[in-house]
Amino acid sequence: MSDDMTNVNPTFIAYGDPQAGWRIKEKFIHRHNWATWKMLIFPFYELYWLGNGVAGAVDGIRMNATYGAEYRRIMRETIYRQAKVSDADFILCLGDISAGDGRRHDHWELFLDENKHHGKILDEFPYLPTIGNHERANDIDYGWTNYSDVFGYPRFYKVEFKDAVLLITDSNFILDQKSHIDNKKQDSLFNEWFVSDGNSSKKAWLEHELASAGDKFKIVSIHHPPVTFGQHYTDWYDQSYGNDLLEKRRKLIGLFERENVQLVLSGHEHYYQHNILNYDSNDQNRAIHFVVSSGGGVPLREAPSESAISKRLEEYERQGYDIGVVKQESVFHYTVIDVAENTLSVKTYEVPEKPGNSITLLDDLLIRKLASENRIP
Ligand SMILES: [Fe+2]
Ligand SMILES: [Fe+2]
Repeated sequence: MSDDMTNVNPTFIAYGDPQAGWRIKEKFIHRHNWATWKMLIFPFYELYWLGNGVAGAVDGIRMNATYGAEYRRIMRETIYRQAKVSDADFILCLGDISAGDGRRHDHWELFLDENKHHGKILDEFPYLPTIGNHERANDIDYGWTNYSDVFGYPRFYKVEFKDAVLLITDSNFILDQKSHIDNKKQDSLFNEWFVSDGNSSKKAWLEHELASAGDKFKIVSIHHPPVTFGQHYTDWYDQSYGNDLLEKRRKLIGLFERENVQLVLSGHEHYYQHNILNYDSNDQNRAIHFVVSSGGGVPLREAPSESAISKRLEEYERQGYDIGVVKQESVFHYTVIDVAENTLSVKTYEVPEKPGNSITLLDDLLIRKLASENRIP
């Protein structure tokens, strides 16, 4: 990718969570492994199940996160082919890149080995990373040092195109899952990087970049989805992750609304979601599309049930958000984004688990640029 893309409208691929899985979770603990008719094949299935439990426990003790190599192979080969066909300008990763724990060299080596030495994604396409929680970048001595050594990108950065800007953020400053940063410091990092508290004349980085982007499409990459229906919905309620998280989310979404952000890309949930936040501004109806592209190789999680979705919708409504659910699908996938002068095309493709089946279009979104009279002055 050339350093200056300000005269180009790119095509790029976004995908999240190419991280490895854990055998003990996928083959032993998960309900579908033991609440199954296969248990009737006594004692063979029990032995198989227990064998996976023992092997998985040994892997866990040795921190050997390698499970799901076949899914990762299928995804990286498919993404590589798609990048070639689309003549992609770059690949954007939405986080959770290291195998499981970014403080460990061997977990980065697995990613590099699979994607560089034997794969081609890193060799042939610029690879833009977003920091996920598994990178453990809030641990400065190990996580951040490893991340910097692998990528050399800052935590927050902007890529500017002719008709769009892409702002890549590090949501681990908000949701500090492993409590590496004290709460006071987290608050000041939120003021400095996401939304300022108004006590200083200086804008936060994201506020400043969005305000300077003018009429261009504004795309934000943030690993932890601000709007989600998966298990990480509760992240924003977990006080051990940081102070006033719902208030921080309110400020963040308020900033997206004020600045006409139309597309927010996230990972973290290990299945596909597309949700819309509707809001009114100056008597105009507007929408922010929250796309969680998060089935990039890690073993998938199930999409939530209808009743779980309804409960969460009610909770969003109580908090004053008008959210629409477009899609919740537990499939492997990646997203192709085409920037044009007046449109942003966002197409997500389902990748079959079994070889021989073809890739299908899972979600097709076309975002139009706001007419100038619809923008906030
Ligand atoms: Fe994550
Ligand atoms: Fe993840």
